[in-house]
Amino acid sequence: MSADVPTRNRRCVLMKRPQGESLASCFDIQEEQLSPLQPGEARVRVEWLSIDPTQRGWLNPGANYRAPVEIGAVMRGAGVGTIVESNDVALPVGAQVYGELGWQSYATASGQGLFGVNVVPDGIEPRHMLSIFGTNGLTAYFGMMEIGRPSPGETVVVSAAAGATGSIASQIARSLGCHTIGIAGGQEKCDWVREAAGLDACIDYRSDSVTEQLRNLAPDGIDIYFDNVGGELLETAIDNLADHGRIVLCGAVATGYEGDLPTAGIRNYMQLGLRRARMEGFVFFDYLNRFPEALAHLSGMFGRGELAIADTIAEGLEAAPGALDGLFAGANLGKQLVRL
Ligand SMILES: NC(=O)c1ccc[n+]([C@@H]2O[C@H](COP(=O)([O-])OP(=O)(O)OC[C@H]3O[C@@H](n4cnc5c(N)ncnc54)[C@H](OP(=O)(O)O)[C@@H]3O)[C@@H](O)[C@H]2O)c1
Repeated sequence: MSADVPTRNRRCVLMKRPQGESLASCFDIQEEQLSPLQPGEARVRVEWLSIDPTQRGWLNPGANYRAPVEIGAVMRGAGVGTIVESNDVALPVGAQVYGELGWQSYATASGQGLFGVNVVPDGIEPRHMLSIFGTNGLTAYFGMMEIGRPSPGETVVVSAAAGATGSIASQIARSLGCHTIGIAGGQEKCDWVREAAGLDACIDYRSDSVTEQLRNLAPDGIDIYFDNVGGELLETAIDNLADHGRIVLCGAVATGYEGDLPTAGIRNYMQLGLRRARMEGFVFFDYLNRFPEALAHLSGMFGRGELAIADTIAEGLEAAPGALDGLFAGANLGKQLVRL
């Protein structure tokens, strides 16, 4: 069965590994003839692409938690789309789906599961599967709840607090009765963090002294630092930890994810010892069997109007590499998406 059977695909292909230049010059848009569907396959018209900092890491020659994207291959990435042709009863024509669709106009789906293609649950805005009900929401939930373990009244600081993950993590802590402080770049983002996301305060790290602000806003120290950024902000947070503080090592965008070269070390790490503190990393998909719990928590908050989210939308396949670059320059408020 088919609604409209596409014959051509446009794909954004990795041509070379970036070494400091803009990502746009590392990709090429290529057209290809689509081959007929095999038994068990389905064709997805890709409508939204999720742009994530981790994708920059996949462009390096060495593997991190996933293999690198090969030169000449379509860029790997999550997306949302509609089934337009199908030989898979689980993915009927017209169904809205999400999964690892890649940077291309048509993806061929051949399986469900974590990195496969799955039907968007009823009642959910499909693109939200790429943010609140996808990687960002799950990462925020397990990072905050499992690694941070907030209690009411504790002081929680979140970096990249106006970003896709940080905005959700900080609001989870706020909704549990914590004193929440965001860190974000620029006045507009800080206003959003305070006014839309409802945090108690937000520090503009581009123009304020973070050290001074933290001393004023968290005079008894930070109980949980949810870190998306690494670098100097991490050192500043360590210097301002409370006894038994916890650092949730979610990511380190300040490193640029540019390869295996060592970044500057954490010079003050012994503060962790003096504060009897804990710093722990995690990867969201380790909690696969608990995704339903996280999604129930997130949809509860969202349904009750307790979770503000924002999208930044770039248009067209050609815009995808630049949108990925933009994450490392703070071009996005909330989730960075590309609409095809
Ligand atoms: N552990 C996991 O399982 C897991 C899963 C998904 C994502 N992550 C991590 O979660 C973090 C957030 O990812 P996301 O997808 O939600 O991206 P995001 O926060 O929506 O976008 C990245 C943000 O980082 C900030 N930033 C960039 N360079 C910076 C710098 N030098 N110093 C301070 N802030 C900087 C920018 O905001 P400003 O304008 O505020 O600078 C930018 O908007 C990343 O570190 C990512 O790798 C981890």
